[in-house]
Amino acid sequence: MSEKLWGGRFSEDTDALVEKFNASIDVDKRLYASDIEGSMAHLKMMAKQQIITLDEADQLMAGLERVKAKIENNEIQFCHQLEDIHMHVEDALGRECGDLAKKLHTGRSRNDQVALDIRIFLKKETRQIMNLITGFQEALVDLAGAHLDVVMPGYTHLQRAQPVLFAHHLMAYYEMLKRDKARFADAYKRMDAMPLGTAALAGTTYPLDREFTRQILGFEHLCENSMDAVSDRDFVMEFISDAGICMIHLSRLSEELILWSSSEFGFITISDAFTTGSSIMPQKKNPDVAELVRGKTGRVVGNLVSILTTMKSLPMAYNKDMQEDKEPLFDTVDTLSICLEVYTRMLPHIQVHTDRMRAACGQGFLNATDFADYLVNKGMPFRQAHAVAGRAVALAIAAEKELDDLTIEQLKGLSDLVTEDVYDFICLDQVVARRISAGGTGFDNVRAAVEKAQKELIS
Ligand code: ARG
Repeated sequence: MSEKLWGGRFSEDTDALVEKFNASIDVDKRLYASDIEGSMAHLKMMAKQQIITLDEADQLMAGLERVKAKIENNEIQFCHQLEDIHMHVEDALGRECGDLAKKLHTGRSRNDQVALDIRIFLKKETRQIMNLITGFQEALVDLAGAHLDVVMPGYTHLQRAQPVLFAHHLMAYYEMLKRDKARFADAYKRMDAMPLGTAALAGTTYPLDREFTRQILGFEHLCENSMDAVSDRDFVMEFISDAGICMIHLSRLSEELILWSSSEFGFITISDAFTTGSSIMPQKKNPDVAELVRGKTGRVVGNLVSILTTMKSLPMAYNKDMQEDKEPLFDTVDTLSICLEVYTRMLPHIQVHTDRMRAACGQGFLNATDFADYLVNKGMPFRQAHAVAGRAVALAIAAEKELDDLTIEQLKGLSDLVTEDVYDFICLDQVVARRISAGGTGFDNVRAAVEKAQKELIS
């Protein structure tokens, strides 16, 4: 007979390579605390239901405490023969409590056990990630609040378009992160369902009180269908998907930080502590942190593809394929967490070159729309005004000038609606200040947006 926990019906030992291949302990040992928490709740419930005695439960609980301490003190040797964290904990409990440990697995399967462990783990991590997002939002809002009147070019197609406030640009990321956090909060509701007690797939014959276990473990809901409970990983897919979207947002900011810190833009300097040098070119100062956040987005998107593909077409209920869920999940948690943390630390150390930003607004006809608006104010229909402003731009290009540099005669030559007040109308600060439509970049709007965000972050 094989010595495995499941060895009863086996007459041959597992092939050594299969043992290694089958094992998930290298990855799922990370779930040890969740696993033990779930086992303790299971024991309490079984004692209450008189499936085991109170004394037995007490002994096993004390044993589990010791197992936990041993794992934390590296006193337990993990090995492939024991496959996964569930079997390691049970085996270690056997060393603490002898044969009594064999009662722990009553009315339970590793299928509902692993589903529970991941949910306990992920609920904690999701709360943590939401806190990290809040921290990063605070850093964004602080930076915006410290630069409320700094103008910069706003871009479309990466071509200078219209001037915006730097703070407005940053607050766009605040909004993205706000939705990311809301997505995690929403995903949390669905991962907050308790699968334990659904056993292998069909439920169990023991008089379990799942409701009691749910309360001990602090879950909001019970998984209602045993087959769904053990075989669904949509909460993992949803989490990684939400993380992927959040990483995409961070990658967009990364790209901008990289561009802005280049000599071509020269809008910001990232502090030395968050950049690296080159081993050959002495002058180099590279934005590695931003590049890595951008690069790590690929990992998380890859993790999403990985979990989606793993789950695709799996017949119900549990399949061993699902053991592959943990690597992409853990990697996603770690990657997103460190990216949020590193950006939260880096942002306050960004030096903003307000002069360069302002100067960049002076080139590229960023006030052309406003020249058209000027004519509209004087009664010209917008399409016609657009055409006139276009001719003004062509004239300026030919003269190698900006719109503001054209003489009043030149401008009057385009339309007799033009008078001297045009220069004031199309000057940079006016162009920004006039954008008072809700959500626009006007000075007061942006100040109000920053103040609103500050309040949101406190509450
Ligand atoms: N290590 C397994 C996993 O992560 C635990 C569940 C194993 N269940 C089973 N019937 N072999 O999926």
